[in-house]
Amino acid sequence: MGQRVVVTMAIPQCGVDVLEGAGVLVEGAEGRAPMPRDELVARVGGCDGLLCMLADRIDAALLDAAPGLKGVANFAVGIDNIDVAAATARGIPVTNTPGVLTEATAELAWALILAAARRVVEGDRLVRGGGFTGWAPTLLQGLQLGGATLGIVGAGRIGTATGLRAKAFGMRVLYFDRSASEGLDADGARRVGLDELLRASDVVSVHLPLTDETRHLLGASAFAAMKPGAILVNTGRGAILDEAALVAALREGRLAAAGLDVYEHEPALSPGLAELDNVVVLPHLGSATMATRDRMATMAAESLVAMLAGRRPENLVNPEVFDETRPG
Ligand code: DGY
Repeated sequence: MGQRVVVTMAIPQCGVDVLEGAGVLVEGAEGRAPMPRDELVARVGGCDGLLCMLADRIDAALLDAAPGLKGVANFAVGIDNIDVAAATARGIPVTNTPGVLTEATAELAWALILAAARRVVEGDRLVRGGGFTGWAPTLLQGLQLGGATLGIVGAGRIGTATGLRAKAFGMRVLYFDRSASEGLDADGARRVGLDELLRASDVVSVHLPLTDETRHLLGASAFAAMKPGAILVNTGRGAILDEAALVAALREGRLAAAGLDVYEHEPALSPGLAELDNVVVLPHLGSATMATRDRMATMAAESLVAMLAGRRPENLVNPEVFDETRPG
């Protein structure tokens, strides 16, 4: 009998084709909403592989419910939904989808930067609501990006790609990361401490992964340190920001605007956030282009096929599993 995998939501058909082409029996792959936890636990019981989404919590309890699991392929570059240590302890390889979503996510960060700086959504609402009574010198004035400073918090692939696009708008770029970004350095950007970045940037764009170190990295004191009237954009993970503190900073006008694609309690928004006119809120669309989602589906499925065959997959996040010197 062929091996069975659970795919927790509908994915582009090319990913299903890769799995079925390898003789794998695909279960699930149909829902448009995250698979309820009980259903996921019940389904993984007899399965050999799991292709999961960023909203699926893959923890020790879930892994224990799936004793035959030979691999977990996350349909995302972020892996904060997976207890990787628990998977490693059980000898289960885990993969993600890096690289293929860099351009799409950087483009979306710019969509938010432009929308927040130039008050695009407020303008759209005004026109649709019949409030546009004619051109006016003081109508919806925003932040001019030309000559302004962009601060990139987290200069991995996506942060770097976002920073490299700033030149087209005549912006100066600062970045904060524990490692240097060759791409940004070569482009004339300057690596600085977080405090300097917050104080000097007109627009701060967040691109960090969510870890214990980055959770609530930006809260009330960071927002107080930012330039009055600055803009904050987040396409990384919601919990990097203290969302309640962000609501307060936006409400008090200390920050001019924010553009958010991700939320601390996703998909829920913190109280007060949705009522603010100076926030652009998107439903986690960073990687949502047709080309990118196809590439993510293919990459995740190919990784899963490799893991089912006991081969070392590309984009392995816990290489210790394949380390022959590992005890046990
Ligand atoms: C990821 O891959 O981590 C993104 O957030 C998905 O859009």
